[in-house]
Amino acid sequence: MTRLIDPTGRLRASFVAAVAEFRADRANPPSWFVEDIEPAALTDPAAFDRYVARVLAERDERTARPAGIVPMTTLWWAGGDDFIGRLAIRHQLTPALERVGGHIGYDVRPSMRRRGHATAMLAAALPEAAALGIHRALLMCDATNTGSRRVIELAGGEFIDRVGAKLRFWVPTGG
Ligand SMILES: CC(C)(COP(=O)(O)OP(=O)(O)OC[C@H]1O[C@@H](n2cnc3c(N)ncnc32)[C@H](O)[C@@H]1OP(=O)(O)O)[C@@H](O)C(=O)NCCC(=O)NCCS
Repeated sequence: MTRLIDPTGRLRASFVAAVAEFRADRANPPSWFVEDIEPAALTDPAAFDRYVARVLAERDERTARPAGIVPMTTLWWAGGDDFIGRLAIRHQLTPALERVGGHIGYDVRPSMRRRGHATAMLAAALPEAAALGIHRALLMCDATNTGSRRVIELAGGEFIDRVGAKLRFWVPTGG
């Protein structure tokens, strides 16, 4: 069964393979989350566990963080031990996130695209956002990102406006 899970060392082999796919994806610039992984985490299991612990700590309100960085819950979309995608929920908006980023961002590994995973992953994440007190989630995509726009619309996204290259939408979370 495919479901949202907390990041875990159990999926290390599949996650590392997915990162290689993201890096090789010429159609899309590598997502920031790929750049955020310490290089050692991709070769050393102990470093991978430290990376996972850091990502899990980002959701904890008590974790120290730079000014302007809000708590963020990262979830992985997984089928068994296979990493398929990731999604992050920012707990609050800031003026910067209102322009770029919004509440929720997601990526599906290139070999698993066009199979409905992003649509299902976002649908599964909306109750998680509601539980964090987000009643409507701000989502955005590049105006040229047809796939992401469709994913947002399938989640009930209501178009707000265009800010620079970004289209912005409100998505009801059901909360
Ligand atoms: C955008 C992305 C998340 C879509 O993931 P996905 O799992 O392929 O999406 P889905 O399979 O759920 O597709 C949802 C809809 O979008 C359409 N779609 C997906 N990718 C598309 C593409 N490249 N071009 C046109 N339509 C596309 C699908 O056909 C489907 O529409 P339908 O239900 O009417 O048939 C994925 O391509 C990705 O990770 N891209 C790189 C990172 C990114 O852009 N993240 C979003 C940042 S805002």
